[in-house]
Amino acid sequence: MLIAPSILNADNLNLETDIKDAIAAGISRFHIDIMDGHFVANLSFGPQLVEDFKREFPMTDAEIHLMSDNPDDLVPAFVNAGADLVELHYEAMSEKKLDYWLDYLISNDVKTSLAINPDTPSDVVSKFASKLDQVLVMTVYPGFGGQKFITDSAEKIKQVREIMGPDTAIEVDGGVNGQTIKIAKDAGADIFVVGSYLYKDGDIANQVRKLEKVIE
Ligand code: DX5
Ligand code: ZN
Repeated sequence: MLIAPSILNADNLNLETDIKDAIAAGISRFHIDIMDGHFVANLSFGPQLVEDFKREFPMTDAEIHLMSDNPDDLVPAFVNAGADLVELHYEAMSEKKLDYWLDYLISNDVKTSLAINPDTPSDVVSKFASKLDQVLVMTVYPGFGGQKFITDSAEKIKQVREIMGPDTAIEVDGGVNGQTIKIAKDAGADIFVVGSYLYKDGDIANQVRKLEKVIE
C-alpha cells in the first residue's frame, strides 16, 4: 500500500516545504500531474519541475501522470527530466502509439502505467498487460483537483484487478479522502493518489497518518 501525494493542490509558492513535510511523514513517491490545456482543460507543471524535484529529492520517486495527447514531445522530455514512472492515458493516443511509448519507457528503465478515464471500459488494459507495472483507474474526470470520488469506480477497480491479477499495482486518482480510500482499497487498489485531502485540509503528517490507519 502506498500513498502518493499529488502536488497539484499544494502551495506553489512553498512547494519545497510541502514536499519535505510529506517526505518527513514517510512518503516515498509523489504523483506529478502534467496537464497540457488540450487533452484536459487545465495547465500545470513542465519537465523543469521534475528535474528540480529529482535534484533535490533523488531518493523519492517521481510518478508522472501525463494528461496530454502530445506524447511525441512530452514522453522523452519527462524521461530526460528524471521520471521514475510515466502514466499514459488510453484516451490520449492510438493503441499503436501506446505500444510504441510503453516500449520506449521500458527500454529507458522507466516504470509504466496506463491511465483510464471513468467512462473507458476496463478491458482495454488487457491488450497492454504484459508491458504495464501499474494501472491508474481515474476516480474523477481528469483536469482538476478537489473533485468528488465517483463511487461507481469500485466496480472498475475490481474488474481491472481481475484482468491484471495480484502482481500489478492498481492506483486510484481523484477525490481520495479518509472515507473513499477504504472503498478503493476494498475494491483492490493498492496505490492512492491524494491531493486536496493532504494539502488543503490541515497538517500533512496528520492527514497521512489518518489515511494509513484506514489502509493498514
Ligand atoms: C486530477 C488529477 C489528480 C488530482 C488529485 O486530474 O489527476 O491527481 O490532482 O487531487 P484530489 O485528491 O484533490 O482529487
Ligand atoms: Zn493525477
